[in-house]
Amino acid sequence: MHQQIEKWLIELTVSEKCALLSGSGFWHSQGIERLGIPKIMLTDGPHGLRKQGDKEDHLGQNESVPATCFPSEAGLAASWSRDLAYLQGRSIGVECRAEDVAVILGPGLNIKRSPLCGRNFEYMSEDPYLSSHLGAAYIEGAQSVGVGTSPKHFACNNQETKRLTIDAKVDKRTLHEIYLSSFETAVKEANPFTVMCAYNQVNGEYGAENQYLLNDILRRQWQWDGVVVTDWGATNDRVKGLLASMDLEMPSSNGVNDAKVEAALQSDPELCEALDNSVRRLLKLVLRTTQNLPEVEGFDAARHHQLARKIALESMVLLKNDEAILPLDAGRESVALFGAFAEQPRYQGGGSSHTNPTYVSRLVDVMAERCPDLRYEVGFGIYDDELNADNLAQAVALAKVKDKVVICAGLPERYETEGIDRTHLNLPAAQLKFIEEMAKVNPNIAVVLNNGAPVEMPFVGQVKGILEAYLPGQAGAEAIADILLGDVSPSGKLAETFPLRLEHNPSYEYFPGEGYQVSYNEGVFVGYRFYQTKQLPILFPFGHGLTYSRFAYSNIQVSDTKITDQQSLTVTLDITNTGSVAAKEVVQLYISDSQSEVSRPDIELKGFDKVSLGAGETQSVSFTLDKRSFAFYDAALDDWRVQSGEFVVKVGASSQDIRLQACVEVNSTVALPFVVHSNSTFGELRSHPATKEYATELLEYFIEHSGIDFNLGDNDENFAETVISFFPIKNMVLFCKEAFSEAQLAVALDKLTLMVANYNNLEK
Ligand code: BGC
Repeated sequence: MHQQIEKWLIELTVSEKCALLSGSGFWHSQGIERLGIPKIMLTDGPHGLRKQGDKEDHLGQNESVPATCFPSEAGLAASWSRDLAYLQGRSIGVECRAEDVAVILGPGLNIKRSPLCGRNFEYMSEDPYLSSHLGAAYIEGAQSVGVGTSPKHFACNNQETKRLTIDAKVDKRTLHEIYLSSFETAVKEANPFTVMCAYNQVNGEYGAENQYLLNDILRRQWQWDGVVVTDWGATNDRVKGLLASMDLEMPSSNGVNDAKVEAALQSDPELCEALDNSVRRLLKLVLRTTQNLPEVEGFDAARHHQLARKIALESMVLLKNDEAILPLDAGRESVALFGAFAEQPRYQGGGSSHTNPTYVSRLVDVMAERCPDLRYEVGFGIYDDELNADNLAQAVALAKVKDKVVICAGLPERYETEGIDRTHLNLPAAQLKFIEEMAKVNPNIAVVLNNGAPVEMPFVGQVKGILEAYLPGQAGAEAIADILLGDVSPSGKLAETFPLRLEHNPSYEYFPGEGYQVSYNEGVFVGYRFYQTKQLPILFPFGHGLTYSRFAYSNIQVSDTKITDQQSLTVTLDITNTGSVAAKEVVQLYISDSQSEVSRPDIELKGFDKVSLGAGETQSVSFTLDKRSFAFYDAALDDWRVQSGEFVVKVGASSQDIRLQACVEVNSTVALPFVVHSNSTFGELRSHPATKEYATELLEYFIEHSGIDFNLGDNDENFAETVISFFPIKNMVLFCKEAFSEAQLAVALDKLTLMVANYNNLEK
């Protein structure tokens, strides 16, 4: 491959090189016929293939070839299953191979900073660990059949409002811990063939020319050498982009940008080198996706429909199930089904991810087939703002005589779609009213929700059951029926918090920004990191999801109680299905830093595993933790750092249902630079072994000569000790007057500095 690339590089003219780095048309890269360099097709993604014919657009308006519509990523992430993410990636890859598509534009790995983001249904989670690990599995799946992926949109594309121009202002620690981490594992471990950069700016530079994001992070820190492709139309300054190692501009700029690059090349050797490197990467992508491809089976639509159903089954989250209202006992109970979603399923989101499914199942049909006695009435329409009196009357009459009522509610597509953000978390008023009216006549209500992101639920106390089915893809109705009828125990867990109220969301006051800027002032406190730390009441917590069984957690063991940040820690525990049906459980591992010098979230997810257990069965689960599991991003050091001390390993069934915990002491091996200056405090100087003794002497001198009585009133000794520790050494001059001069301070500072240097030399 290397030889072929270098040969082409010699043969290509400068104009051809420039042309190669811009698309040909909407979905293809440029080919160079005379050299036999083929064009390749890159197309959406992420939850199914959207390959268009001659009518092309990036907003999902025009038809595309029939393809399987899998659950959208919000649901896929709720499965917490690496296996299913792999399977989904692979299946889409197989369809791409059948359609000659080289790169699928996904997965979407932006963090759900606000539940209002119109594209949250296309993203995985509010947690970067979960998002990145599932993203890695998806990428591995697709690439196992020779199809490239494009995790997107790198980075900080966390809203649709002004997404083409907005400047996300994010501090370095937050950027690394939350927004970059969401891509990091996926990029480092699964090595996607491409990464799609975002439209927006991050800290003043557009995604398509962001030196820090592309050169420093992707290329240098993460050592990734794939192709960076723009989001469709995200190019700002093509020359700057090339210098930032942004390789492929999509779609074509019709030669406009190629000409600009060619002109700039004359005077810029750095640009010439950047051009060659980008061409090398592009040619590698072409070869990777066109030569020596692995054998794959053909696309079997019926089989993929069943795979979509399998994934959908695990992506649904049983949020509430009082008095075991679910599963329905179809043989013995009479059931009424309401809501137009049962007839017109909302199974995918709007915009560029919009697929043309091979088949779509409807809950009315599936349920009619499986429970012939079930009665359906529409009750309300998907787009209704008000209830129709006749429909309501009919529904009330029916609900009164049935044992149980199932209501299919959700968000119409216009509420959540690419291009705009939501402004509230409400379901349409007609639906809320309908649920309220039903609750007056029947106490046994289960609500099935179809939506891509959290909604507020004023009805939570009026109903016994809530199944969050998300946007479950074309086989969603079959999966909903499997769960409603108890054929399969639900096993999804929320990959995002459902807040009680929108106003509780940490980004609420700063979303979607002002003018052309959005400030991420909430810092690392995103999603549960915020709610949990603030101990705010929420509707349903991150990681929450019920099953038709029960699980007992026991016997937690840690391989060591004291490690350094260079060592790993193994955590094992047993999990037992104590219920009477086979079920799956998502075991979640969180880390708490007991005491930290920086403000850290109460808990952070650092491991998860999905286990399948028959009734009465026990299985051992094990996790390996390493430095990153305990570290925070130290902006001053510009690296991950563990602060030495005690950490609590918490294992549970959700972020708010911790069942086991164990402690471990982790010691850092990083020697932080200790610089002495006139603002160094007595406290700092006395806590460093090199300066401790001399600083204590100085302190005693200070107390004696300053005349300040630190033992104020009836405060205890610690009080005086603490107050003194905050005094900077320069205050000796001010307070000791003639007893300590500027010159003496300079001597003391030199002496302290020397002590630290000697100490460091000895330590080496
Ligand atoms: C979206 C991308 C998508 C591209 C091509 C853009 O508007 O942001 O996610 O892959 O269009 O359709």
